[in-house]
Amino acid sequence: MRFASALAGAPGRCLIVDDEPAIRVAVRRLMQAEGFVCVEAATGLEALAAQEADPCPLVLSDFHMPGMDGAQLIAALRERWPQTAVVMITAVSDVNLAVRCLEAGALDYVTKPFAMEELRARVLQALEKRRLLIENESYRSELEARVVQQTHAYEELFLASLRSLAEALEVKDSYTWGHSTRVSQYAMAIAHELGLPADLLHQLETGSRLHDIGKIGVRESVLNKAGALTDAEYAHVMEHPVIGWRLLAPLLGDMPHALAVVRSHHERHDGRGKPDALSGDDIPLAARITAVADSFDAMTSGRPYRDGMPVEVAMAELRRCTGTQFDPECVAAFERAMSSGAIPPLDHSVQRQTLLHVVV
Ligand SMILES: [Fe+2]
Repeated sequence: MRFASALAGAPGRCLIVDDEPAIRVAVRRLMQAEGFVCVEAATGLEALAAQEADPCPLVLSDFHMPGMDGAQLIAALRERWPQTAVVMITAVSDVNLAVRCLEAGALDYVTKPFAMEELRARVLQALEKRRLLIENESYRSELEARVVQQTHAYEELFLASLRSLAEALEVKDSYTWGHSTRVSQYAMAIAHELGLPADLLHQLETGSRLHDIGKIGVRESVLNKAGALTDAEYAHVMEHPVIGWRLLAPLLGDMPHALAVVRSHHERHDGRGKPDALSGDDIPLAARITAVADSFDAMTSGRPYRDGMPVEVAMAELRRCTGTQFDPECVAAFERAMSSGAIPPLDHSVQRQTLLHVVV
């Protein structure tokens, strides 16, 4: 069949729509001679029913028909079967109608009376256009998919670099190995309890993993000091939220909630926190969540000079500081997550083994 390559793998089927049986017969003979299997319809509604039963890639349609006219048929075909090639058959005097049909989405038209050769040429041209349109569409969606894939890969790489930064800090401050990962897990459990939207969850995960990144700027002698800190040393450690925020601000411009976690995770509900003395709901929610997660992990994690607190004791401490240090809703959500099993039981032996591995 001459039309095989233009059909690009579609079945050689053709729907002929005309209310005059003689025209349908003439067109059918021509198309059958070209190897097409033909389906006939006398009205637009019959044509749609035929497409519904078994869609044809090619429709040859009259314009003036009882009921639905040619332009309405094209509109319906394009909505349901957008890859259909439609060629209109119009009367000589209806050039304006032909233009309307082309505007509605017909790929070509022939005027009555037509020569068989002309119809054949128009059909071939319409099928070629259809093939190009499909190829174009497939190329465009392939390109879009590739762009999405590459953007995703870049984002993953970017986040992996940030995680490496957080892990670099934990090598420096080796007694807190695994801290940022656990804080992130606790923070996400709280956020799920609070029903936060996906974008905020994503930013919270990033922010909570990086919340202490500013400790890179804190002297190791202070960071790893076994005993109590002097006032000056404490003030030096507490510079880390702003250091971290400055460090990450150029990188996380489109993640304001993640940045807020880094800057505000040491704010307190009563307004006595650092660095901006924010209080209550003025503290960004992601930072309030991280404050609870951070404190719980700090209390339950061991240090060389003390064991971690049992979970019940740490929970009691969170409850005691609710309304002063911590946001009540975040603490309540953490308790719910803990009782529902969303937070796995702590395993200090694993933490210590990891710690030994890092120290060695
Ligand atoms: Fe911190």
